Amino acid sequence: MNRTTRDGKSPCYILAVETSCDDTSAAVIQDGRTILSNVVSSQIETHQQFGGVVPEVASRKHVESITVMIEAAVRESGVAMTDLSAIAVTQGPGLVGSLLVGLVAAKALSYSLQVPLLSVHHIAGHIYANALVHELEYPAMALVVSGGHTELVLVEAPGRFRIIGRTRDDAVGEAYDKVARALGMPYPGGPHVDRMAHEAKTALPLPRAWLEPDSYDFSFSGLKSAVLAAINQAKMKNLPLDPAEVARGFQESVSEVLTEKALRAVKAYGAKQLLLAGGVAANRGLRESLAPRCEAAGIPLLAPPIGLCTDNAAMIGAAAFLKWEEGQFAPLDLKAEPLLSLEGWSVQ
Ligand code: KG4
Ligand code: ZN
Repeated sequence: MNRTTRDGKSPCYILAVETSCDDTSAAVIQDGRTILSNVVSSQIETHQQFGGVVPEVASRKHVESITVMIEAAVRESGVAMTDLSAIAVTQGPGLVGSLLVGLVAAKALSYSLQVPLLSVHHIAGHIYANALVHELEYPAMALVVSGGHTELVLVEAPGRFRIIGRTRDDAVGEAYDKVARALGMPYPGGPHVDRMAHEAKTALPLPRAWLEPDSYDFSFSGLKSAVLAAINQAKMKNLPLDPAEVARGFQESVSEVLTEKALRAVKAYGAKQLLLAGGVAANRGLRESLAPRCEAAGIPLLAPPIGLCTDNAAMIGAAAFLKWEEGQFAPLDLKAEPLLSLEGWSVQ
């Protein structure tokens, strides 16, 4: 494998670790762009029986898998441990017990290999998953849609973030998971609702939460309650209700609001690209709603391949490279920050 960079500088190999929720992942990324390895151990089966992620169980599972994942990522990359340039790790946001496992492993490696430690914001990772497959242009607007976050983020320059809108209640992925649960589908429900929505011929009419006319904020709890009310009423009155119609109605409402606000934000801030980021970026309905609107408006729509939308360490390596380039290393007493701020993490 040829590992010299185009400008002749020696390549940067970042070993990245991601354990913020229920996936244990490790990856080796070259120069912030090329994935040499990216392994993920999912805990979904364990948490499915509880209908959601149980934090204590998640931490224990990370402890069981972390060494195996790191060893596999390094082995698959073909890079010797001693050739690694830096160790990157998700510092937050996420579940504190889960974050700690990754943090301790990353610190131990950084110390023993005597290479810098890089802290990464999980959402910066989701946004920079796009940089693994696309050339980014600034300013860019990111539509972040994950299990824990729904935000419109202006990316002013590489690694410089400004949040211009956020959810006032549920994250969109969370709403997907709750609706899926009410429809009797397993956790995580997003992909199931997405699939069902495409099977429906008609959509259950549901509200859209636009909020104030100039607001870039979101709200999904009212929509979620409307879905639950429709399901309960049908049950009580013994009326037929097609779950696929419910899924389609929900998905259309979510997609329409996300699309309108994202396009308005791109235009208002003169963004050169719209970046989709987070687990819900895998949603077909959302992509189908955004694509024609972006095309008509001449806005390049970028999205990671499906496999890089949900949590993975490759995206953490991509974001870490921004800090590597600026020499912004983390101290070995770095703390896990369950509520880490994206703007505060920005590259200076
Ligand atoms: O980004 P992610 O892997 O984890 C967090 O950082 O939260 O996102 C997980 C979320 C879950 O809520 C899951 O249901 C949702 O992403 N999701 C989807 C789809 N694939 C994953 N939601 C809608 N449609 C999908 N195809
Ligand atoms: Zn995530």
